Amino acid sequence: MKQGSIQRLLYVSRITARAAGPLPSTMEDILVESHGRNAALGVTGFLWSDGVHFCQVLEGADAAVDAVFASILQDDRHKDVRLRLQEASSDRKFDRWSMCGMTLSDLDESVIDGGDLGGDLYLAPAEDVIAMLAHLCAVHGAALEAQHRRIVAATAGL
Ligand SMILES: Cc1cc2nc3c(=O)[nH]c(=O)nc-3n(C[C@H](O)[C@H](O)[C@H](O)COP(=O)(O)O)c2cc1C
Repeated sequence: MKQGSIQRLLYVSRITARAAGPLPSTMEDILVESHGRNAALGVTGFLWSDGVHFCQVLEGADAAVDAVFASILQDDRHKDVRLRLQEASSDRKFDRWSMCGMTLSDLDESVIDGGDLGGDLYLAPAEDVIAMLAHLCAVHGAALEAQHRRIVAATAGL
C-alpha cells in the first residue's frame, strides 16, 4: 500500500432469517457494535440494506479494515459474503461516519435506477455500487448525521 493511502473494501451479503425479521433492530445493534471499534481503529464507512442484502463499504488503514472485515465474515447475521472491491486509495469517499446505516426507502427506489440494483448487487460493477451508496449518503446526509450523533451518544457510556 502506498504511503498515505487507505484501503477501500466493498462487500455484499445476504441477510440470514434470524436477522431479517427484526431488521431495524439488527441494524441498530450492528451500528452500536461498530461505532466504538471503528472509531478506535479509524475505520469509516456506510452500511446499506434492501431487506434481503447487506452492502457495506469500509475505509481505513489496511490492517484496520482487514481486522474489521475478518469479524464481519464470522457474523451469522448474514451469509454468502462476497468481496466486491478491495483497493488502495489516496482518499476516502465515506469519511463522515465511523459507520452509518440505512435500509431501502421509497425515496431510494426512485434514486436507484429502476429500483432493482438490489438484485444485482453481486453482479453490478463495484464502482456503480459505490457510486449508488455515495449518492444515498448525500441524499440522506442530514438523517444519517442525526443517526450518527444518536449512536455516538448511546455508546458514550459503554
Ligand atoms: C452486516 C454487518 C456489518 C458489520 N459492520 C461492522 C463494522 O463496521 N465494524 C465492526 O466493528 N463490527 C461490524 N459488524 C459486527 C461484527 O461482525 C462483530 O459482531 C463485531 O465486530 C464483534 O466482533 P468480535 O466478536 O470479533 O469481537 C458488522 C456485522 C454485520 C452483520
